[in-house]
Amino acid sequence: MALRSRIVGTGMSVPDRVVTNADMTQWMDTTEEWIEQRTGIRERRWVEDGQKPSDLARGAVVAALSQAELDVSDIDCILLATLSPEHDFPGTSFFLHEAIDAGDIPCIDLRAQCSGFLYALQIADSLIVAGRYERVLVVGCEVHSTGLDVSTEGRDVTVIFGDGSGALVLEAVDADAGPGVLEVRVHAQGKHARKLWTEGPGSAMYPRIDHAALEARKHYPIMDGRFVFKHAVTRMPEVLLETLSAASLKLEDVDLFLFHQANLRINEFVAHKLEIPKEKVLNNIQRLGNCSAAALPILLAEASREGILEPGKLVSLTAFGSGFTWGSAILRWG
Ligand code: COA
Repeated sequence: MALRSRIVGTGMSVPDRVVTNADMTQWMDTTEEWIEQRTGIRERRWVEDGQKPSDLARGAVVAALSQAELDVSDIDCILLATLSPEHDFPGTSFFLHEAIDAGDIPCIDLRAQCSGFLYALQIADSLIVAGRYERVLVVGCEVHSTGLDVSTEGRDVTVIFGDGSGALVLEAVDADAGPGVLEVRVHAQGKHARKLWTEGPGSAMYPRIDHAALEARKHYPIMDGRFVFKHAVTRMPEVLLETLSAASLKLEDVDLFLFHQANLRINEFVAHKLEIPKEKVLNNIQRLGNCSAAALPILLAEASREGILEPGKLVSLTAFGSGFTWGSAILRWG
């Protein structure tokens, strides 16, 4: 029997603490209007002291398993995408593994930044289609806030990012049955790695962190915002169309477009370029900011709970991020 992977459960978890644009104005030279006009963001969620990525990931996974009416013991493998690991090593997936008491199943951390969820989805889908595993947890998880510079110097990056986690359960089904993941395409361009990155602590530095590195602010993310924006609005439409074409589908066939939540203006630009009607696009960046690898699974979880995802609907997911990385997936819900 030919196999396909199908999403049987989604879940999300975000911290309770709401950080508004007004809060940002207390810490840095910015205005509420600047942030909302340039990014669309009104507020984001940031962790409370002591709240860890694996706490958020656990919340998302428990919700996904509950929606799927499955238990942790039904899962064969965990794939977790993040750019903000809980510790240097081992990966965040191991702390999630501990938190959900996952026995001795394998777990893998994946580093592909804001496209990390789509990279993880492609690998999980391939593992299922190959018959290696029957059920895989795919998780996106970020705690950005503990690594951001809330002074004026870091304002371009800091206002954008939020914390959160989204998860889904992928299950092997008969490929002829209909619903499931139809195609996932991902790309990378390492030559732009330093256009959006955090240099340290890292093993290219000796020692990995010291006072000089801290004073040089190497532990804060830096971004060439305009360069990132330009590439995002070019690569996202490109890979979305490539993915649809690989699945022998057309743009008009798609019922719902979910874009990575980096900047509302990027998503509006992409939708305009492809002439996608507004009502076919769902955004939550206004409330949650950019949750990187967690953004798409959180959107999916919200869409499924809001009843937007009826069986048979075609859903397109597209992302762009640091690396540079970009990718797109098309799936039939059900
Ligand atoms: N508040 C007020 N002013 C700010 C600011 C803030 N939070 N951040 C930057 N500025 C200032 C800059 O210092 C600059 O001032 P100057 O003209 O005096 O030098 C001015 O605003 C314009 O900066 P610029 O970076 O050119 O603005 P922009 O219109 O490109 O908007 C971003 C900045 C970050 C919103 C935009 O570039 C962007 O969204 N890029 C893509 C980012 C992204 O998607 N990242 C994640 C990828 S996964």
